Amino acid sequence: MTSPSPNSNFNSYFGAHRTSTLTTVLTAFGTLIATYYAYKIFSFLYLFIFHRSTISRYLQPAITPAASSTSKHRSWALITGASDGIGRAFAHELAFEGFNIILHGRSPTKLAAVETALKAQYPHISTRLFVLDAYPCSAPAIDEYVRDLAKDGLCISVLVNNIGGGSLVSPTFRPLTHLAVAEVQKLFDLNVGFPTLLTRALLPIMQEPTLVLNLGSFVSHIPGPWLTVYAGSKAFNMSWSRSLGLELRAEGKDVEVMGLVVGEVQSAGHPGPVGPVMCSSRTLARSALDKVGCGRHTVAPWWRHAVILALVMRLPDALLNWSMMRTTRGLMEEEKRMLEVDKRNL
Ligand SMILES: NC(=O)c1ccc[n+]([C@@H]2O[C@H](COP(=O)([O-])OP(=O)(O)OC[C@H]3O[C@@H](n4cnc5c(N)ncnc54)[C@H](OP(=O)(O)O)[C@@H]3O)[C@@H](O)[C@H]2O)c1
Repeated sequence: MTSPSPNSNFNSYFGAHRTSTLTTVLTAFGTLIATYYAYKIFSFLYLFIFHRSTISRYLQPAITPAASSTSKHRSWALITGASDGIGRAFAHELAFEGFNIILHGRSPTKLAAVETALKAQYPHISTRLFVLDAYPCSAPAIDEYVRDLAKDGLCISVLVNNIGGGSLVSPTFRPLTHLAVAEVQKLFDLNVGFPTLLTRALLPIMQEPTLVLNLGSFVSHIPGPWLTVYAGSKAFNMSWSRSLGLELRAEGKDVEVMGLVVGEVQSAGHPGPVGPVMCSSRTLARSALDKVGCGRHTVAPWWRHAVILALVMRLPDALLNWSMMRTTRGLMEEEKRMLEVDKRNL
């Protein structure tokens, strides 16, 4: 029988040592990954199940109700693009909370119809109309309107920058070079210019605590082809929300700015049946108000949109790009077919 050589003892000692070091590193790595995903799942569950909205922070009771007013609260919410779709839904949800509502839009008739419906359903609120075409976007017109609001001394504590969209030009899906200059300008004005200039003018006269909600889109996180200006402008909305929120916090202001990452929502601009991935405008608005106070600068308010976004964002880039090209090409062809049918039916 041969006794083990000192060399083989040495090798097996260091081999075992290497194995145990590797096991320790892998265990630590596994624990880190598990902790990361546990945290992600916990914060998702917290946001969508346990978080309680702090929207009532922005609602001040009326001090001495004027004889002419039936309003129980003196706080106002201004909603842009409130004559239809998600904007109109926000108007209803905020009126339900007790806010007096300023409805912005370009059509006095459509706005008056929304106002009548609001007054019938929520007799204890006051309403005002802000009629201004956001295209071409006029800074002097915005400033003048805000000066008038300041003179009236309204206590505006909520601003919903809802106006915008990709379908504001038709066809929606087009190569950049096929967009007329005026169409590019329109997409900029409605998605970027108007919300930025309105917020700039309004913030100094808004009552603290203040809430600013900015409507974004999935395309800001997952941009596809043939939607370049819309996707870029929605990415601006999200980056701008975060930057503005941080700036105001750094300046010690009590202003909550939240960018809303929105997937498919049934609206005038995006008709279609409500289903597993498309919610109603009311559901979207309610879900967004439920997230107020969650501490995030951007949030996908509807839980199904949040799940879709979280899963899609984890796909490898090459797969995501390939699927975006395929999906958007399908949408572009579908839109072409629909527009031809519309033309024939004219
Ligand atoms: N619906 C979706 O699936 C979806 C998905 C992602 C993001 N979003 C975002 O959500 C927001 C609202 O979308 P939506 O689908 O609810 O839109 P919508 O149904 O088309 O409603 C748009 C609103 O903006 C108003 N508007 C349009 N052009 C205007 C102008 N030049 N001046 C003043 N007002 C004007 C419309 O007024 P009129 O009634 O006079 O036309 C209407 O009140 C947008 O920012 C959009 O990008 C929507």
